[in-house]
Amino acid sequence: MFSLILPTYNEAKNIPALVEKIRGSLKGVPHEIIIVDDDSPDETWRVAQELAHDRDDLHVIRRIGRRGLSSAVIEGFLAAKGDVLGVMDADGQHDCGLLPKLHKAAAAEGGIAIGSRYTEGGSVGEWDERRHLMSRIATRLAVSLCRVKASDPMSGFFAIDRQTFEKALPNLNPKGFKILLDLLVHVPKGTKVQEIPFTFGKRMHGESKLSRRVQIEFLEYIYDVSLGRYVPLMFVKYCIVGSLGVVVHVSAFTFFEYLLTRGGGATFQQFSLSVAGAIETAIVFNFLLNNAWTFSHIKLKGKQAFVGFLKFNGACLFGALANYAVSAFLFSFGFPELFAVVVGAFTGVIWNYTMNRLLTWRG
Ligand code: GDD
Ligand code: MN
Repeated sequence: MFSLILPTYNEAKNIPALVEKIRGSLKGVPHEIIIVDDDSPDETWRVAQELAHDRDDLHVIRRIGRRGLSSAVIEGFLAAKGDVLGVMDADGQHDCGLLPKLHKAAAAEGGIAIGSRYTEGGSVGEWDERRHLMSRIATRLAVSLCRVKASDPMSGFFAIDRQTFEKALPNLNPKGFKILLDLLVHVPKGTKVQEIPFTFGKRMHGESKLSRRVQIEFLEYIYDVSLGRYVPLMFVKYCIVGSLGVVVHVSAFTFFEYLLTRGGGATFQQFSLSVAGAIETAIVFNFLLNNAWTFSHIKLKGKQAFVGFLKFNGACLFGALANYAVSAFLFSFGFPELFAVVVGAFTGVIWNYTMNRLLTWRG
């Protein structure tokens, strides 16, 4: 049996015609269609449930409080009965006529059969230059990571045999749009990949959900499965936040000093007060951004966030002490000043990152 997953978010207008078309294309193939909808505001799930009412081959999973194309597809695969599992966009951009070929390829030879825009004979159709360029860059990055060769690892149109899916399953990362890439990164070496060319069509109704956030998640994923083994992504994010914090620190210092002196020369006391104000401003900034971005998966809320903020202050104080201790130590042993300061700063960052991982954002 062929189980075809249709992930949907706000596709109410597209679903009825598409399901009819799929049914026509898959006439000779025993199949089921599983719509996985993330509680779409346009009530795609309701339209789908009505369609499924008098048909045994159509199933609907309505997920509450969750979002994401990849995780919807994985969930659909897990609920499927077929020995071959497939996916396609629910907006008409993928050619239904290709479904029997994709199914046959994966059923006959195992592994993955991809509806490919980049293999000979395929095309992305009518895209503006920006999307074209983005897709090419993303594809280039993605290709280099795959365990098996494929020219379009970002395609959302493919079929995979159940055994191959189950082998990759324990290692999948369900964030974002990159379900096929994630499979290609985690299937056993030597898995058979077949590419069948097609032209990416136009969306029937509605708009694309490939947001800026999805793009950032993609870059994070690329990092995670390549360099992430050596330097964890969270630490890199923490350092990026810290660098922005330096800019905030300098700006806040300028602002406070101006407030106190109105542009005149500062006394030592005014200077010290401004530095102290700038330090705390930067700490607040770093805490908020780390909580929202670096540690978004374990974000602190309400009272927890307040307690976390106090711990963060403590950890930063420790970082500063470590920073001072190391630079002073190196300096006193005759190392060049700049060297001592830079090594001290690095030690401070690593120290305060570690403290925050242990105390503020655990887990
Ligand atoms: N359940 C669920 N949850 N479905 C989603 C979500 C979500 O959060 N986000 C998107 N979808 C569904 C859409 O409703 C659509 O059926 C399908 O996933 C693809 O989303 P589109 O918004 O149509 O993506 P696209 O056409 O811009 O992107 C296509 O090309 C990309 C590569 O260029 C897709 O084929 C992607 O899979 C592909 O990576
Ligand atoms: Mn689409």
